[in-house]
Amino acid sequence: MPVSMTLRELYDRIREVLPEVDARYVLNKRAGVTAADLIVAPDSGVPEGAVGLVMRDLERFQTGEPLSRIYEERAFWGMDFVLSPATLDPRIDTEVLIEAVLQRFKDRSPLRILDLGTGSGCILVTLLSLFPQAYGVGVDLSPAALQIARSNAQRHGVDARAGFVCADWGGALEGLFDLVVSNPPYIESDVILDLDENVRKFDPILALDGGQDGLQAYKRIFSDLNRLLDEGGFCFLEIGFDQEEKLTRLIKESRFLLKSVHADSAGHPRVVEIFSAK
Ligand SMILES: C[S@@+](CC[C@H](N)C(=O)[O-])C[C@H]1O[C@@H](n2cnc3c(N)ncnc32)[C@H](O)[C@@H]1O
Repeated sequence: MPVSMTLRELYDRIREVLPEVDARYVLNKRAGVTAADLIVAPDSGVPEGAVGLVMRDLERFQTGEPLSRIYEERAFWGMDFVLSPATLDPRIDTEVLIEAVLQRFKDRSPLRILDLGTGSGCILVTLLSLFPQAYGVGVDLSPAALQIARSNAQRHGVDARAGFVCADWGGALEGLFDLVVSNPPYIESDVILDLDENVRKFDPILALDGGQDGLQAYKRIFSDLNRLLDEGGFCFLEIGFDQEEKLTRLIKESRFLLKSVHADSAGHPRVVEIFSAK
């Protein structure tokens, strides 16, 4: 086994590019090395093949590709999710939606959950893990994203309680849900070109583009909610940091009530909580 660097040398090389936690992550991904190995056996050799892979990863990172895209995985709510070019890279802000659902359902469990625009399945799979009595359906227009969502449901042992449907929002669905969640595409079409390169280059446009006003998906979802959200049920929608007013207007025009607006860690409105009164 040809060896060209010691563990410590490789780690130091990675640290020139990445912070400590990420450097240890890369070392573990490519060389199977743990933080303990680094302390106990820093002078042991790393196979040339692994060194080559790490060097290639660093090059990709330095040209702007996020680690989550290089390794096709992302932690969400403390769970590891597989990604692909067809899925959005889940954002930490979306965890606000999970927190908001947990606040609402602290004394009881939702039983039928619908996730519109499920992507990697991060929201649905997390909720099914948190609510073991619930069943859920994840909808996406992208068959390739659904394949990833399915495998994430299997990975986290909730696949027996999850169904995945390729459809245009809720149009193809029947039945009633007591919890509907969605993080739809909400960026105005014209703004997409101004987005950070890492978003534009690596997140699928289908996951970003909310149409000219950024509200196209919400309008469709509201019309689907009329059929799909049970009386007494709740819907949680992620929104852009500047969309509270527009969403409030849409909710006023609907037959639903705005129950609450949940802020992210920067204090921006991030999730609207909607109630279907009995
Ligand atoms: C912002 S991403 C959210 C993905 C995932 N739920 C998350 O939070 O990371 C929006 C998702 O909506 C899906 N989508 C876009 N248009 C759709 C449509 N007409 N019907 C169903 N899903 C759609 C995209 O493919 C994408 O997976």
